[in-house]
Amino acid sequence: MSEVGQIINADNVKLREDGRAVIIIDQSLLPGETKHIELDTLEKMHDAIFHLRVRGAPAIGICAAYCMAVLAAAEVSGGQSGRTLGAVCQASSAMLGAACQEPGGESCVARQGPGEAGSVAGAVGDFAAGASAGDGSNHGLDIGGSGTDGGDEARNPDRKSAVFLEKMERYGEYLKSSRPTAVNLAWAVDRVLAAAQDALQMDCSARSTCIAGGGADVLGGNVAGIDRTAEAHNNNALGGRAVHVPGSDAAYADCVQGVDHGCCTHLAEAIKQEAFEIHREDIEMCRAISEYGLTLVRDGDGILTHCNAGPLATSQYGTALGPILLGKERGMDFKVFADETRPLLQGARLTAYELQKAGVDVTLICDNMASMVMKNGWVQACFVGCDRVAANGDTANKIGTSGVAILAKHYGIPFYVLGPVSTIDLNCTSGEEIPIELRQPQEIKEKFYQTPMALSDVKCYNPAFDVTDHRLITAIVTDKGICRPPFTESLRRAKMME
Ligand code: MRU
Repeated sequence: MSEVGQIINADNVKLREDGRAVIIIDQSLLPGETKHIELDTLEKMHDAIFHLRVRGAPAIGICAAYCMAVLAAAEVSGGQSGRTLGAVCQASSAMLGAACQEPGGESCVARQGPGEAGSVAGAVGDFAAGASAGDGSNHGLDIGGSGTDGGDEARNPDRKSAVFLEKMERYGEYLKSSRPTAVNLAWAVDRVLAAAQDALQMDCSARSTCIAGGGADVLGGNVAGIDRTAEAHNNNALGGRAVHVPGSDAAYADCVQGVDHGCCTHLAEAIKQEAFEIHREDIEMCRAISEYGLTLVRDGDGILTHCNAGPLATSQYGTALGPILLGKERGMDFKVFADETRPLLQGARLTAYELQKAGVDVTLICDNMASMVMKNGWVQACFVGCDRVAANGDTANKIGTSGVAILAKHYGIPFYVLGPVSTIDLNCTSGEEIPIELRQPQEIKEKFYQTPMALSDVKCYNPAFDVTDHRLITAIVTDKGICRPPFTESLRRAKMME
């Protein structure tokens, strides 16, 4: 296999063959150690995303979808083992609380602009507090245990399906709370949940047609007027808890008994198949983005990139690194400058590693050297990834990205954002509405140093992402094509093709 081939086929995220664990490359150990770890409990899954063992917006989405498949399979065969969700959320709440460093605020998530910090943190905090408060009852759901469906309910397949789906939603909410900025995480969780809802809806339709005398009447208002599929897709959330509760009609009960044996098994299967589909689509999207991106540069160009938007962060070619790797496969040679990307060094640890292994000419620079290499005339284009793109083109990406865009504007260098349409969030009208994750001060003061490099009690501000103003962006390269300003129009059109 070629050098590029080895890098793009790294299997950064996959479902274990028996479907009972997600296997990831632990990116926090790279480049020193390439180690695969298995995620088979909710806690390990949350931890892996929170601690960036799996990272990069698309990879987080794929991982979360597979996590949901594993949790669903566990649920079907007797429930999630380990602590209750309440206990897990309590731990999470404390962990997120420790990360809060915004001066004068308690938020774990900062919105852009003064005075708004905390509103999103409230949502995360509320969930954690609500789920863990007091009796650990998880709002009537025993998420942690098995065999909760007693008596009549256990024999009622629709009730079982409802409980199953509610549990899956709660697991999904918890996974989503691990990292708030990358929209792909919530998007992927909601998508697999919508697939399960669709499967349930098909059940209900099948049953209603087998009820003599017209099932629609028997089912009555329980289903009528609720288009769950549309709701899930349009709102990007499963509102309404629209789960069918059957009538007591004897014919209906007979029909259900025949049809619904193992009802949750096929809901779990729907989740798994949707997770595979998300992964398959991401491979295609990265390839398409790479093709489009390659049209923007010429052989021999210097390209500056920030953070890591390569194979590890996505599937196969990656997004920002995609055109570079695809070009390399076709015999082109770019000179890439990789920002090291303080404080977690994704550029040094991951981008420089991937490109070097792929045989690409890569030069590692500290973040504060970007101006110098641009001034020297060594950079003809900037390629960066994205974690969330607002409807107007404002783009959240790794902290430091907006500084690169400002420099590029100053030096007259085109600045390109590359990402799949799943990263476009039309619900955010501008970057002001994108939640920004705040992380622990230790990442600035201690991590990667042999001894702490700052006083232990010095205040730190550690936002993981910033928002690049759309006016600094030359184009947004998606799998559906290259979006040019005005982005409100071009992004909307790209999104419609999703
Ligand atoms: O905190 P990280 O490492 O998950 O941040 C990743 C980035 O900012 C990437 O540039 C982005 O997710 C795009 S990945 C294709």
